[in-house]
Amino acid sequence: MRHIEVTRFGGPEVLVPTTSPDPVAGPGEAVIAVAAADVLFLDTVIRSGRAGAWFPISPPYVPGNGVAGEVVALGPGLDPSWSGARVVARTGGAGGSGGYAEQVVVPLDRAVRVPTNLELTESAALLHDGSTALQLASTAAIKPEDHVLVLAAAGGLGILLVQLAQAAGAHVVGAARGTAKLDVVQRHGATAVDYSRDGWTARVLDATDGVGPDVVFDGAGGQLGREAFEITADGGRFSAHGAPGGTFAPIGPRDAASRNVSLSGIEHVQLDEAQHSRLVATVLGEASAGRLHPHVGQTFPLGRAADAHAAIEQRAVTGKTLLIPG
Ligand SMILES: NC(=O)c1ccc[n+]([C@@H]2O[C@H](COP(=O)([O-])OP(=O)(O)OC[C@H]3O[C@@H](n4cnc5c(N)ncnc54)[C@H](OP(=O)(O)O)[C@@H]3O)[C@@H](O)[C@H]2O)c1
Repeated sequence: MRHIEVTRFGGPEVLVPTTSPDPVAGPGEAVIAVAAADVLFLDTVIRSGRAGAWFPISPPYVPGNGVAGEVVALGPGLDPSWSGARVVARTGGAGGSGGYAEQVVVPLDRAVRVPTNLELTESAALLHDGSTALQLASTAAIKPEDHVLVLAAAGGLGILLVQLAQAAGAHVVGAARGTAKLDVVQRHGATAVDYSRDGWTARVLDATDGVGPDVVFDGAGGQLGREAFEITADGGRFSAHGAPGGTFAPIGPRDAASRNVSLSGIEHVQLDEAQHSRLVATVLGEASAGRLHPHVGQTFPLGRAADAHAAIEQRAVTGKTLLIPG
């Protein structure tokens, strides 16, 4: 089968198509023929070599944290009703690995069945972003009439947070860069603000009755995250889970406490396998019922994984990016 290998840490060019024997299911395992492999912003950071302190992965490795596809083989003694099932599953250990491939082998207890009315691509788009979004929304305890600000709102995670906040009855502002991304945010019913323009926080204040957002989901981090913190309403909730801006939002616990802002971070979305599977099943159910709309912005053939990473790093993508082995 074909897979993608990271040959050494570096730019997108280190993602090299290669081949290996088809995987075999051992005890408790299933082989999935991959219809879509999830690509996360985190995959680009790990590939660059900048995440070594947190994720002990070293080249050569197969990147990719999860897939959607069909079960094509089962280990001995497993329930045969799983044969042929359409599933999503996380791959690899901490940080994820192994998903950029035509076939993956996973413990069967990681597989979550996909509702019949959902496409496998839609399900792949919800595997991580959806479960994370549900967890973040639950931590923030969004109330009707809250003002909610989502940074990196047109990204894979951001656009789901926009929808969950709307569904909770909040007034939602989605901040992103450039017309194409602002259009995506508006299409999902939120007020769109371009945070690459001077004075963007004043526009958010205008949209939040002058008091600032009660809840901030910061998927951008760095300076943008800090600026968003400055306008967060006193007594608000701030989730600093994103770092595309180079760092998580630089906010000290004392800063937050001085304004009674409840601060949460990336540690609040570290889920064990059981928690993750439960949230994935819930989020697939929400999408199946039409209450959540996965946004697959772009797909790339598996062999063009390097182009997918380059596009993410150039900020040229909206919503979810997937690899299609097809
Ligand atoms: N997806 C998850 O399950 C998950 C879980 C935990 C944490 N996170 C973190 O949350 C953040 C957003 O995740 P995501 O999955 O939504 O990622 P994504 O779909 O790749 O979106 C990232 C967004 O970051 C914005 N951005 C800001 N500065 C950027 C820069 N210098 N380079 C590239 N993009 C930049 C981009 O939008 P603009 O161009 O509009 O700024 C882009 O839409 C990431 O830091 C990720 O590690 C995600």
